Amino acid sequence: MADTLGMAAQLAGNAVRFGWYSGINWLLARESQRLGPRPRYRPKLPVPSQAELMADLRALFLADAAAVRDGLYAPAEPAGSLAEHLGTLRAMFADLPAILQRRAADDTQSAEADGSAEGLPDYYTQDFHFQTGGYLSEGSAKLYDVQVDTLFYGAAGAMRRAGLKPIAAFMRGRDQRATHLLDVACGTGRFLRDVRLAYPALRLAGLDLSQAYLDEARRHLEDLRPADLLCANAEQIPCPDASQDIVTGVFLFHELPGEVRRRVTAEIARVLKAGGLFVMVDSLQMGDRPGWDGLLEAFPVRFHEPYFAHYAADDLDAMFTGMGLEPEATATAFLAKVMARRKH
Ligand SMILES: C[S@@+](CC[C@H](N)C(=O)[O-])C[C@H]1O[C@@H](n2cnc3c(N)ncnc32)[C@H](O)[C@@H]1O
Repeated sequence: MADTLGMAAQLAGNAVRFGWYSGINWLLARESQRLGPRPRYRPKLPVPSQAELMADLRALFLADAAAVRDGLYAPAEPAGSLAEHLGTLRAMFADLPAILQRRAADDTQSAEADGSAEGLPDYYTQDFHFQTGGYLSEGSAKLYDVQVDTLFYGAAGAMRRAGLKPIAAFMRGRDQRATHLLDVACGTGRFLRDVRLAYPALRLAGLDLSQAYLDEARRHLEDLRPADLLCANAEQIPCPDASQDIVTGVFLFHELPGEVRRRVTAEIARVLKAGGLFVMVDSLQMGDRPGWDGLLEAFPVRFHEPYFAHYAADDLDAMFTGMGLEPEATATAFLAKVMARRKH
């Protein structure tokens, strides 16, 4: 039966999130200009109009709500209490001067400062987005979700959930209890939580190189059936060959150097069973929506994203196919793209 009430709840939740995070985005931009004024970067490539962006965001929210109506997944719930959320926002604004100072000095090494970066690859220990502590501090893990939703106007969850659609098609007729899903670079576990809510009996695991982010993921999953959380490098996934039915990677590939992207893809292909599914959710690439390419040009100028330009131009299709991951479906979801591939 169609869950029209769930659909309405999902639409309302997304509308509230959009309004709230748009306000925070505006405040953060204003504070950033006040504390560390910078001329606005004007991309050479075309950018969409505000109306075009909003129309696409509306389409994403409608698709997200329709997926709830059709029973693909349950409506998203508010994450944590209001008091906790306001505390996190306060901490994000309190951290802004330090972020702007590092941006002005082009200093991207705060994660290196406390010793927790020892033994980790150099590409990883930089402060992506100039965030304090990079991916390695508890403070960074606590701020991450709010920072991402501020960047994406509250649409981060809906973009991630676009990755649940190819999973739903794959799961049709399968026994959840006998199906293994590994989320590579699970971060704070937001996508793992979406997967767990949709598939309570799935054999679920998440992997990330940051123990602080995994601790946060554990907290976000604690009221649900547990998932295995592995602290490991995606270049050497600690799983046997052909052990996974589904592997996912959400917002990971744009943060990897080209050769590491290839090593991680090879690992994903290795651990997938024949016929298994890989789902990537990540940024749009150049040419996906030609009128939007200027956004992709501007993004790494505004934020510390050292491998984004390479990612945006990378031939992912050839990379996946070359490693035995054949095309299944590709779609865009606002500023994200979803690529579903099958291991042959
Ligand atoms: C942009 S965040 C995405 C997190 C999460 N998937 C999400 O949807 O928000 C990138 C994540 O990739 C992880 N990461 C980056 N390189 C990694 C590597 N080589 N091995 C494991 N995790 C890695 C980081 O620790 C971080 O949690």
